[in-house]
Amino acid sequence: MTKAHFGLVGLGVMGENLVLNAERNGFSSVVYNRTYSKTQSFLLGRGADKNISGAIDIEEFVQKLDRPRRILMMVKAGPATDAVIKQISPFLQEGDLLIDGGNAQFSDTERRVAELESQSFGYIGMGVSGGAKGAFEGPSMMPGGTKSSYEAIENLLNKMAAQVEDGPCVSYIGPGGSGHFVKTVHNGIEYGIEQILAESYDLMKRVCGMKGEQIADVFGFWNNTEELSSYLVEITEICLRKKDPEDGDDLVEKIMDKAGQKGTGLWTVISALELGASVPTIYSSLNARVMSSMKSQRENAESILARPSLRPFDLGSVSDGMSPLMDAVVLATIASYAQGMDLLKLASSEYNYELHLPSIAQIWKGGCIIRSRLLKRIQDAFNDDPNLTNLVLDPWFANQVSSRLPGLAKVVAGAAESGIPLPCLSSSLDYLNSYRTARLPQNLVQAMRDCFGSHTYQRVDRDGSFHTEWLG
Ligand code: 6PG
Repeated sequence: MTKAHFGLVGLGVMGENLVLNAERNGFSSVVYNRTYSKTQSFLLGRGADKNISGAIDIEEFVQKLDRPRRILMMVKAGPATDAVIKQISPFLQEGDLLIDGGNAQFSDTERRVAELESQSFGYIGMGVSGGAKGAFEGPSMMPGGTKSSYEAIENLLNKMAAQVEDGPCVSYIGPGGSGHFVKTVHNGIEYGIEQILAESYDLMKRVCGMKGEQIADVFGFWNNTEELSSYLVEITEICLRKKDPEDGDDLVEKIMDKAGQKGTGLWTVISALELGASVPTIYSSLNARVMSSMKSQRENAESILARPSLRPFDLGSVSDGMSPLMDAVVLATIASYAQGMDLLKLASSEYNYELHLPSIAQIWKGGCIIRSRLLKRIQDAFNDDPNLTNLVLDPWFANQVSSRLPGLAKVVAGAAESGIPLPCLSSSLDYLNSYRTARLPQNLVQAMRDCFGSHTYQRVDRDGSFHTEWLG
C-alpha cells in the first residue's frame, strides 16, 4: 500500500479544512482523531472519495505515513498539545516532523522545539490564520522552527497557502517559537481592528442615529478605499446587513454585548509589557473585551452614575464616507499595525528571531483575518527602509497621520463630551500625540520618584545621574 504524504491529528473545524486543502493540492493524507467515530463520520462525509484515509490509533496513523513523516497537529493549545506529542513521539523516527498549527503560546513552542529536536525530530510551531474558510481555500501561515524542518514542508505549505500577487502567503518566519509569536501579534492587531470598527459602528448609531443598513453602506464605502479595504471591514458590512430570521430586525442588535477571548490578545499585551513595546491600541481592545464582559456591573452603574447627555456632532455624511470618522478609523488601524510591527521588531532582537518584516506583511496580505490593502504599504515601508523605527515615520504613513489627525481628534473630543467610550480610538490618538511630542511631562514623574525614593534622574543639559534633596 502506498503511504500517505501528509498526516493530520485533530479533526476539529480547522483540521478538517486543512486536510481537505492539502488533499485538493495533491497530497495524499491520513487523519487521526482521539474519538474514532469523528474520523469515520469525516471519511463518510466531507472526506469521502478523496485521497484521505483514517487511522484507528496513533501507531496505525504513523505507519501509514511516508518518511520523513509530516504530521500536522490541530489540537487545543496547552496540555492537549503536550499529550499528543507524548503519545506520538514513541512511534516517530529520526527526521520525522511534527507541526503544531494551533494558537500555541510561543514560550511553549520554544520548549517543544528544544525537546523534540533533542530527540532528532523536527518541530515547527506554525500560526495559521483565516478561520474555517481560509483553512480550506488558502490560509496565511506563519511557520517557525529550524530551517531544515521547514524545508521538508515548504512545497506542501506553498501550495496550501492563500496566493497573492507576489506569491504564497507563507514563508519561513524564524527559529524556535517565532511562528507562534508572529501569529500572536497578528491576533493582537486583529483585536485592535475589531474594536476600532465596533467603536465606529457605535458612533454612527448613537451620534447620528443611523440604522444597520445605513451603517453597512459606510463600511461598504470604506471597503472600496485603499486605506480601509480589508477582510474585517468587509465582514462588518455583512454582519450589519444580517437580519434575525424570526422578525427581520438587525441581528447584530440581538447579540449580547459581551466579547469572549481565547488568550492570544492577552499574550500580545503581556509580551509587549515584558519587551517594553508601547501597544495602547491593542491593550485598549483587550480591556474593552474585559469591560464588556462586566455586563451586570455596567447595568448597575448606568443607573447610578450620571452621564452627560448626548451632544450630536458632525461625523460627515454617508456619501463622503463619514469623513472625520473615516480619518479616525484609518489612523487607529494604522496605529494597531504600527504597534504590532514595533512589537515584532523588539521581539526579533530580544529573542534573535531575525524577523523579516516585509515578508510578514506579505504573508498577511492574503488568507488571514487582518488582510488588507494597507499591508502592501506596510510591506513597501519596511522594504524601503529596513531600519524604519516606526511605521508612522514612513513618508506615506506620516502623510496619513498629518492629514487625518484633526479628524481623529474631533471624533474623540465629540464622543468624550457625549460620554461615549472610545477605548481604541482615544488611545490611538494619545499614542500618536505622544509619539510626535519630543518633550513629555515625565520629567516631573522623574522628580517625584527622586523626591520620595532617591531614584535619581538624568538632566537635559549635562550627562550623568543626579539626585536632589527635594524635601530638605
Ligand atoms: C485567525 C484567528 C483565530 C482566532 C480567533 C479567535 O487568525 O484565524 O485569529 O486564530 O483564534 O479569531 O480569537 P479570540 O477568541 O481570542 O477572539
